[in-house]
Amino acid sequence: MNNSDEQMTHNGGDVTQELRLGVNIDHVATVRNARGGTHPDPVRAAIMAEDAGADGITAHLREDRRHIRDADMAAISAAINIPLNFEMAATIEMVAFAVETMPNAACIVPERREEVTTEGGLAVAGHEARLTDLLAPIKEAGIRLSLFIEASELEIRAAAAIGADIIELHTGRYCHDVERRGEELARLANAAKLAHGLGLECHAGHGLDFDTVGAIAAIPEMVELNIGHFLIGESIFTGFPAAIGRMRTLMQSART
Ligand code: PXP
Repeated sequence: MNNSDEQMTHNGGDVTQELRLGVNIDHVATVRNARGGTHPDPVRAAIMAEDAGADGITAHLREDRRHIRDADMAAISAAINIPLNFEMAATIEMVAFAVETMPNAACIVPERREEVTTEGGLAVAGHEARLTDLLAPIKEAGIRLSLFIEASELEIRAAAAIGADIIELHTGRYCHDVERRGEELARLANAAKLAHGLGLECHAGHGLDFDTVGAIAAIPEMVELNIGHFLIGESIFTGFPAAIGRMRTLMQSART
């Protein structure tokens, strides 16, 4: 553990026992778009996820509209009775879109056109002034500001400094680098503690599945997990409600 990791373990306070599941429905739209029609409908998936016990719906309107499209976002927002977490790049176009849609939260993610998925966390440190200006309309509209970042003390402190309400920690490396999983888990746990100590709500996501969710769910400061690709894939075999139900059970049992 280096100095900054050590400092990270010294923060924290009372922690919540409630852990929310946000279901990311992007890849329902990926399948729909493969044939250019209307089936499967991400709005129907969002309603089904809500009925199956999801605590929130997450959707990412990418610049290239490869899965979720403008009309989907508005339709999902209108159809659900649980919070919408609008994932978006830090661009003027997306900020305007978020303010028009008025989701519960806007989760700012880095976005590169050539990437297959969101490959890393947002660089907040060093870009504080630009992000504060750009994201001001989101804060002014009363939308909760969430920043998708790596489990780094520098980034967490920068997120707090620019007035984020939430950080979402990128769990990609923890999920995919099996050899370094223990190390990554410790980093995520320390990061969650630091975030909580700074008054930030802590979420996590990316690459989580039935095998990897438990250890993340057991981090006491964690408030929400956002999970998509695995749930959509698993629903081919067991159905969407069953996949969501099992994920919730695993999260709950890890918590207790
Ligand atoms: N959280 C964020 C910020 C993401 O960008 C993604 C991927 O779109 C997820 C969670 C969900 O990741 P996955 O689809 O791998 O479960």
